[in-house]
Amino acid sequence: MILGIETSCDETSVALLDEDGRVRVNLIASQIERHQPFGGVVPEIASREHLQHLFPLVTRALGDANLGWNDVDRIAVTAGPGLIGALLVGVAGAQGLAYGLGIPLVPVNHLEGHIFSPYLQRDGASIPLPERFLSLVISGGHSSIYDVRNGVITMLNRTRDDAIGETFDKVAKFIGLPYPGGPQIEKHANGGRIDRKRFHFALPQFNEKSADFSYSGIKAGAIRLAREHGINANGDAQLLADFCATFQEALIDQLFDRLEVIWSSLDAPKPAEVAVAGGVAANTAVRERLSAWAAKRGVIVRLPEKRYCTDNAAMIAFAGLKKGEERDPRRVAVRSRIA
Ligand code: KG4
Ligand code: ZN
Repeated sequence: MILGIETSCDETSVALLDEDGRVRVNLIASQIERHQPFGGVVPEIASREHLQHLFPLVTRALGDANLGWNDVDRIAVTAGPGLIGALLVGVAGAQGLAYGLGIPLVPVNHLEGHIFSPYLQRDGASIPLPERFLSLVISGGHSSIYDVRNGVITMLNRTRDDAIGETFDKVAKFIGLPYPGGPQIEKHANGGRIDRKRFHFALPQFNEKSADFSYSGIKAGAIRLAREHGINANGDAQLLADFCATFQEALIDQLFDRLEVIWSSLDAPKPAEVAVAGGVAANTAVRERLSAWAAKRGVIVRLPEKRYCTDNAAMIAFAGLKKGEERDPRRVAVRSRIA
């Protein structure tokens, strides 16, 4: 049995997985309401909330799974990247528990947690990892496409500025929608019409050939358009909906433009599976586009359960299970940034 702990940002999460990658419990204490008045995550508040919730959550997870301390064989914990204070609470807590129980600690890279999350299932054992898959990680902090071969992860592109989730959040904040903005934009986009003439967004171009993302142009453009058209959370609802639909589509268009560039540059045989992960993978328009994209190319698509898209400890325990290195709990360090 592996105990997972995730505290890198604004969710405290604890999970228990068995050796087959079967999720026995996955508890998440979300702090969204505590950060909402500030329109974004306040690191100091996040650390304090983790401190308050972590141990009660561990106790509850064991209780819910009908397990005792002696049933835990090792602990996996997010060691970075993330907010340094928030990470420290999780890692120090995990170190104490592992040391006290005399079991190994497995440090996990948060991104690897996201990358493998599409292979977790709601019930039953996890889906076997294929020899090779293409992974799109789209979250509040990251936008990258990776080539994953036998568990070895190669980054194929990255964002030069804002992450896609961050762009959703910043534009949502500007028009007065609550944090986090991604689900809010999606909700309003559902009643809207895509109108590329009224709300024009261009794909970013670089001087050299590159498949990198860049979302700062769409962000600046969206803020300018919102100002020009007087778009506001409390204003004309149809105008807001049309704007959200078109803005969301522009973010997704860029995602698929880059995916296509990368896909055509890969030598045959190409990966047989494509997976998407991270908070933005919860977006229905993203999921539908990726399914259609994959179907057209005869590629298997892996969409994580929505509960495993945003930050959660099940994916951390799973990554620990799949490629974690067991350490002496005293030898695990926190890193807020990982190259
Ligand atoms: O993976 P995650 O929980 O945290 C990071 O590691 O960043 O991702 C959070 C991000 C936020 O930017 C949030 O707005 C976005 O994921 N998000 C969404 C949706 N649900 C969450 N974006 C678009 N549509 C959604 N349904
Ligand atoms: Zn994340």
